[in-house]
Amino acid sequence: MIKELKSPLRVVLENYGRINPESIEEYIAQDGYEAVGKVLREMRPEQVLSEIKASGLQGRGGAAFPTGLKWEFTAKAKDAPKYIICNADEGEPGTFKDRAILEGDPHKIIEGMIIAGYAVGAHYGYIYIRGEYLLSINRFNKALKQAREHRFLGEDVFGSGFNFQIEIHQGAGSYVCGEETALMESLEGKRGNPRFKPPFPPSSGLWGKPTLINNVETLANIAPIILKGSDWFRTFGTKKCPGTKVYAISGHVKEAGLIEAPMGITLREIIIDYAQGMRDSKFKMAQVGGTAGAILGEDMLDVPLDYASLGEKGLVLGSGAILVMDETTCALDMLECFLNFFKRESCGKCIPCRVGTEKLLELATAISRGEGKEDDIDLMLHTAKVMQKTSLCALGQSLILPISTTLKYSREEVTEHIKGRCPTGVCKI
Ligand SMILES: Cc1cc2nc3c(=O)[nH]c(=O)nc-3n(C[C@H](O)[C@H](O)[C@H](O)COP(=O)(O)O)c2cc1C
Ligand code: SF4
Repeated sequence: MIKELKSPLRVVLENYGRINPESIEEYIAQDGYEAVGKVLREMRPEQVLSEIKASGLQGRGGAAFPTGLKWEFTAKAKDAPKYIICNADEGEPGTFKDRAILEGDPHKIIEGMIIAGYAVGAHYGYIYIRGEYLLSINRFNKALKQAREHRFLGEDVFGSGFNFQIEIHQGAGSYVCGEETALMESLEGKRGNPRFKPPFPPSSGLWGKPTLINNVETLANIAPIILKGSDWFRTFGTKKCPGTKVYAISGHVKEAGLIEAPMGITLREIIIDYAQGMRDSKFKMAQVGGTAGAILGEDMLDVPLDYASLGEKGLVLGSGAILVMDETTCALDMLECFLNFFKRESCGKCIPCRVGTEKLLELATAISRGEGKEDDIDLMLHTAKVMQKTSLCALGQSLILPISTTLKYSREEVTEHIKGRCPTGVCKI
C-alpha cells in the first residue's frame, strides 16, 4: 500500500488504511452504502443534484469543473441510454492518488457511481482503470462482486426499482486516454484519440449518448456529502473551493507519500507539516499539478493551493501531484525529461502538438548538450504559445505552463548551458 503521511483531516481518505478494503462488512460498519440507501429511499434525483451543487464540489481530475453543474447537464440531456464513467486512468507522472483511493477504499467509488447514476438517470457505469494498476483492478473486481451479492448493485438496488451495473475497462498505457473524449474512443474499442469539442460528453459522449465522466477523487467525495450534507462539506477549504484535496508528494522531501489537506493549504505547510521538510538540502522549486503543471519557486511557498487562488495567477492545481526539488536539480534537465514524456505521449492527431512536442524536445536537448543558441529559449516559448492556441486537446495546449514557469525562475541557468556550463553539473556538456 502507498505510504500515507500524517493527515488530520480526512474526507476522501477517511477509511484509507483503517479498514480492510477487501471486506464489504468493514465498509458497511463505517456507514458504507448508507448514502446510496438514503438517496434511493428519501431523495428525488433533483434533490441529489441540488445537494451536490450546493456543496461546491469541483472535479478533481484537473479541470476543476463544478461537479453539480456537470451532473445537471447530463440529467437534462434528452437522449438515452445515459452512461457514467469513472476516470481512473491516472497516467500523469508522479500522480498516484486515484490508485491509492481505489486500493484503499473501492466501495466508496462504487457508491459514488451509483448515486451519480441515480441523479442523472443512468443505469450503466464504466470504470476505466490504468492497466498497470493490477491491485486496484483486483480490489475493484472483488468489491463489485461483493456489492452485487449484497444487492447494492444490479437490479432493484435497495428494493427501489433502480437498476445500475458497473463494468471495468482496463487501459493500455496511454496518457492521453485520460482525456475524457480519448477515453471514450478507447472504451468504444477505437484508437484513443481526443475528439473535437463541442459536443461535450453530457450531451454526446460514449457511443454518442449523454455521459457523465468524473475522476476517482471527485466520486469519492459524493457519499460523505450525501450523508453529512453540503454545509458540512463547506466547512473545509475555502469559500470558492470547498473541501479537501488529496496530494501525491514526491521528490526531495523527508517523507514522500499521500496526504489529504484542506483546499487553500500552502506549499510550505505541505512540505513542513506533512512531508517533514526537505531532506538535508535547500528548496529550489516544486512542480504542482503534474507534468503539465507550473513550476513554483520560493516566492510561491505561501500562496494558497486551490483552484481559484492559483487560477488568478494563471496557474493550475491539476491532478494534485507535487514534485519537490532541491538545489541539486538542474531546471533544464527536468524540463527535458517532461518534454520527452509529452513527445512520447502526444497522440499525433493534430499537427501543432505532433510536430511541436518533437521540436521542443529537440531544442531542450540541444541546449542541454551545450549546442543551443540564445534564440532557442524564445523559440521554445513561441512554439509552446502556438501549441496553446492551436492544439486540439489540453495535452498540447498546456505545455506552455511548465515551460514558461521554468524559464521564469531558471532562465539564467538555462542560458548558462548555452554558454557551455551546467551550473548543477547534471548535464554532460
Ligand atoms: C492529457 C490528459 C490526460 C488526462 N488524464 C486524466 C486522468 O488520468 N484522470 C482524470 O480524472 N482526468 C484526466 N484528465 C481530465 C479529463 O479529461 C476530465 O476533465 C476529467 O476526467 C473529468 O472529471 P472531473 O470533472 O471529476 O475532474 C486528463 C486530461 C488530459 C487533457
Ligand atoms: S493536442 Fe496532442 S494529444 Fe491532443 S489531440 Fe493533438 S496531438 Fe493528440
